[in-house]
Amino acid sequence: MKILVTGGAGFIGSNLADKLISSCHDVVVIDNLSTGKVENLNSKAKFYKIDICNKDIVEIFEKEKFDIVYHVAAQIDIQKSIQDPINDAMINVMGTINILEACRKNNVKKIIYSSTAAVYGNPNYLGIDEDHYKQPISFYGSSKLSSEYYISTYSKLYNLDYTILRYSNVYGIRQDKNGEGGVISIFLDKMMDSEDVTIFGDGSATRDYIYVEDVVDANISSIEYGSGEIFNIGTGKYTSVLKLFNIMADICNKDIGMIFENERLEDIKDSYFEIDKSLNILNWKPKFCLENGLKKTIDYYESKGI
Ligand SMILES: NC(=O)c1ccc[n+]([C@@H]2O[C@H](COP(=O)([O-])OP(=O)(O)OC[C@H]3O[C@@H](n4cnc5c(N)ncnc54)[C@H](O)[C@@H]3O)[C@@H](O)[C@H]2O)c1
Repeated sequence: MKILVTGGAGFIGSNLADKLISSCHDVVVIDNLSTGKVENLNSKAKFYKIDICNKDIVEIFEKEKFDIVYHVAAQIDIQKSIQDPINDAMINVMGTINILEACRKNNVKKIIYSSTAAVYGNPNYLGIDEDHYKQPISFYGSSKLSSEYYISTYSKLYNLDYTILRYSNVYGIRQDKNGEGGVISIFLDKMMDSEDVTIFGDGSATRDYIYVEDVVDANISSIEYGSGEIFNIGTGKYTSVLKLFNIMADICNKDIGMIFENERLEDIKDSYFEIDKSLNILNWKPKFCLENGLKKTIDYYESKGI
């Protein structure tokens, strides 16, 4: 199939593009390289360096005739969304509408959208299921939720099929330490340099950490399954920041200190997903426990001497 991956030079998008290419799909990447890197690009992918807000994107769609569009590109920095909500909305809302318009005009069969746990805000209950109340506490969460609504409205008006995947905290190779879910790459960066790690709050905050290969597999399953549906993509398990720190320090075999700072207002205290709907409908399940995913990630960085 002819498949577009927006954001295919970034962390999740590049891992997805690699897997699609290894499964013999014809892959095109659109990315403006704002956080993505040229070295992440698969040499077999056709690459267009262009902003998702650029109106000329429709010409790429006309030329390439995509069957499936993975819309992964986004402004993913929660702090930046609070400092500059207009820029966040330009990329995450207007950029998504620009991609949807190009899909509509060119009869794309399906769009698969990378969404986030940030759409839920502070949970009323755990594990969070897909029907949980949505009350984002950052503009990033609001812009990603808006995009979900635009996608479902395009689907109703123009019969564009879609699947929306809400990721928990994703980690793995090629992750930038500035993004959402970046705590693991921040810790890793510090541990590799034998520097102390800063923890906001008392370290008891919990998250649902999912390895990037599992996220990629959920995206691949979405080609065939999950039409017109929204899914939580996580492990359904929670880990505190302190436990995460200890597991990582053990794997890295480093004696590192912790510096505790005040918790940040925009940080959610506890979060983990209920993933039954994904397990039942998407024909998918996460394969990596946290220890194995972390070992794979740390081995990769050690072998690269980073
Ligand atoms: N990393 C996580 O833990 C996590 C969790 C939940 C959801 N997500 C979602 O997954 C997606 C990918 O996140 P990631 O962690 O791989 O981030 P990333 O920053 O590594 O990747 C985003 C990519 O999009 C590109 N991009 C950004 N703005 C663009 C624009 N205006 N035009 C064209 N390209 C642009 C960047 O250059 C980058 O290559 C995002 O949609 C994000 O909201 C990520």
